[in-house]
Amino acid sequence: MKILITGGAGFIGSHVVRGFLNNYPTYKIFNLDKLTYAGNLENLKDIESNVNYKFILGDIVDGAFINDLFTKHQFDGVIHLAAESHVDRSISNPLEFVFTNVIGTVNLLNAAKNIWNGNHEGKRFYHVSTDEVYGSLGTEGLFTESTSYDPHSPYSASKASSDHFVRAYHDTYGLPVVISNCSNNYGSFQFPEKLIPLCIHNIKNEKALPVYGDGKYTRDWLWVADHARAIDLVFHQGKNGDTYNIGGFNEWQNIDLIKELCRIMDQKLGREIGSAEKLITFVKDRPGHDLRYAIDATKINKELGFMPSVKFEEGLEKTVEWYLANDEWMNNVTSGNYKKYYEGQYSNR
Ligand code: NAD
Ligand code: TYD
Repeated sequence: MKILITGGAGFIGSHVVRGFLNNYPTYKIFNLDKLTYAGNLENLKDIESNVNYKFILGDIVDGAFINDLFTKHQFDGVIHLAAESHVDRSISNPLEFVFTNVIGTVNLLNAAKNIWNGNHEGKRFYHVSTDEVYGSLGTEGLFTESTSYDPHSPYSASKASSDHFVRAYHDTYGLPVVISNCSNNYGSFQFPEKLIPLCIHNIKNEKALPVYGDGKYTRDWLWVADHARAIDLVFHQGKNGDTYNIGGFNEWQNIDLIKELCRIMDQKLGREIGSAEKLITFVKDRPGHDLRYAIDATKINKELGFMPSVKFEEGLEKTVEWYLANDEWMNNVTSGNYKKYYEGQYSNR
């Protein structure tokens, strides 16, 4: 089987590429990535010389390039993760999200439709999406696969749009698609614009921990390798045309999560317990900030047997250990443009 994984040099994509290469030695894995600020080939150093792996530098927004690539390689499967993925960046630059997340996805759908040309036996287009398309919950309730879409940020609006296109290609052209909508991931190789690695980096450097609003916003967190395992299950066993919600049964208010992270960091760094918490700083809220995301993951559990394997406290500890042991990775990704981004994002809060 020839599988194209898009966005394989990013956080989740790198775990998916590694998982597929380890679990399926007969597959050929092609990783297509533009290497934006979030894409990093260092995330894949351990597997780059695998004979079944090929990296392709390219932009999914370039439709002619994508068509040529599909014609040349005749992929049997696509696992589409490439995206602009950060809500705060989508607020400053929404168009970039329309280009990559919407137009990029439609380019991939078109190219798959063209090469498969109605012969769908053994073919699959898997679109990896987010729970943020469902909008925000109050203090009660869970997102199910039939919850109506109600996105609030340009990021979630662009992902919602791409999900609709994927379903439209299934309903209109019979394309064999599957979609999953997952909650917040955490673990190794996550770019430090996102809450957990940003706080780890700041605590280490004794910098302020910017908590948006009152810190009572709630997210469900899933260990990234568990998400990669769920993607493997959905890709191989998911029902054609179906959607699967993926979650960790693990809701945390941001402020409680940050305090837990502070405790672990103090312990690992041999600092006095309580010193990291002093860095907590409440800052101006994110506009359109969704109060709560929470997933009902019953369907993927019942149909595909998926359960998260890592307890959050353990996963958080392992995550801290990974970032502390991979200083060079963090230094590389936070040099250069990161400083400019950080200034722009946080100096006026
Ligand atoms: P990421 O930002 O870490 O990685 C995105 C990757 O896509 C990068 O390697 C980047 O270089 C690549 N990319 C961006 N634009 C591209 C383009 N135009 N052409 C080719 N490659 C391009 O993102 P992530 O956190 O790994 O998320 C991966 C996917 O999973 C996204 O589709 C995201 O919406 C979805 N998702 C993420 C989470 C999460 O918590 N991170 C949760 C649910 C779903
Ligand atoms: P984030 O990691 O950006 O993921 P998402 O917005 O996709 O859920 O943010 C997680 C939560 O943490 C979200 O409620 C916003 C909040 N947050 C902060 O309080 N401060 C920060 O500096 C960042 C990046 C996020």
